[in-house]
Amino acid sequence: MKLVRTLKELREARASLAEPVGLVPTMGYLHEGHLSLVQAAHRSCASVVVSIFVNPTQFGPQEDLARYPRDLQHDLDLLEKENVDIVWAPEDGEMYPPDYQTWVSVENVTRPLEGELRPGHFRGVTTVVSKLFNTVQPQKAFFGQKDAQQAQVILRMVADLNFPIDIQICPIIREADGLAMSSRNTYLSPAERQAAPILNRALLSARSLYENGERNAAVIKNSLQDIFKEEPLARPQYIAVVDPATFEEIGIIQDKALILLAVYFGKTRLIDNLILSGK
Ligand code: PAF
Repeated sequence: MKLVRTLKELREARASLAEPVGLVPTMGYLHEGHLSLVQAAHRSCASVVVSIFVNPTQFGPQEDLARYPRDLQHDLDLLEKENVDIVWAPEDGEMYPPDYQTWVSVENVTRPLEGELRPGHFRGVTTVVSKLFNTVQPQKAFFGQKDAQQAQVILRMVADLNFPIDIQICPIIREADGLAMSSRNTYLSPAERQAAPILNRALLSARSLYENGERNAAVIKNSLQDIFKEEPLARPQYIAVVDPATFEEIGIIQDKALILLAVYFGKTRLIDNLILSGK
């Protein structure tokens, strides 16, 4: 496994990789969820590149960039065991030199929910992901379904800008008690950590309503509000039922829907989601 920190080193190391190359973009502080993406990449690619870059441009001024957890050595130990070929861990200045002024921005699907609550977030994501695609030139790239809106935004960007890259969206990996894995889970106090699986319980209860024939999104959302009222540590920011492609809110579910949650536990904001589908 090669750790590369500059574009020059990346280009040299990339030149000798067997094709097809799979890229797993991350912000580090890796957990089983990230490793499941690496494993998916190994299943269909001859070489695997993992990028580790805490991208400053996707954090708002009030967000947690400075306290975002980092442990490069631990990440490298995990990736070595996963037989990753290259770890691309650029310094900030390598990605955003002082006179940097070019942005990639997707429109409609970035507007609601995460886009509305975190202005500029998706512009930062699509810009850095474009740069990672251009620098690594993978044939495939792997993202998690946990960041459902991000996944849809990237699919849109890749289609609209004709990136010759096959995007794979991989399932959410959960702890034994159902909490979706996330680097931000480490911020939770013990009491908050104990309360946090309520997200998964709420999603499962939505699924059971759906499976019992409920198609009215307002009824599903109200029932989830009631579930969260039982947990004093949980403060839902949004509970949404949306079209999985456009992220527009749905009134009556016709076919598929995506149910999305953003919930605060103290200062920590967790997101989770579940697809409701008849099939
Ligand atoms: O999902 C993430 O970890 C980040 O948003 C990504 C895709 C690595 C871009 O910085």
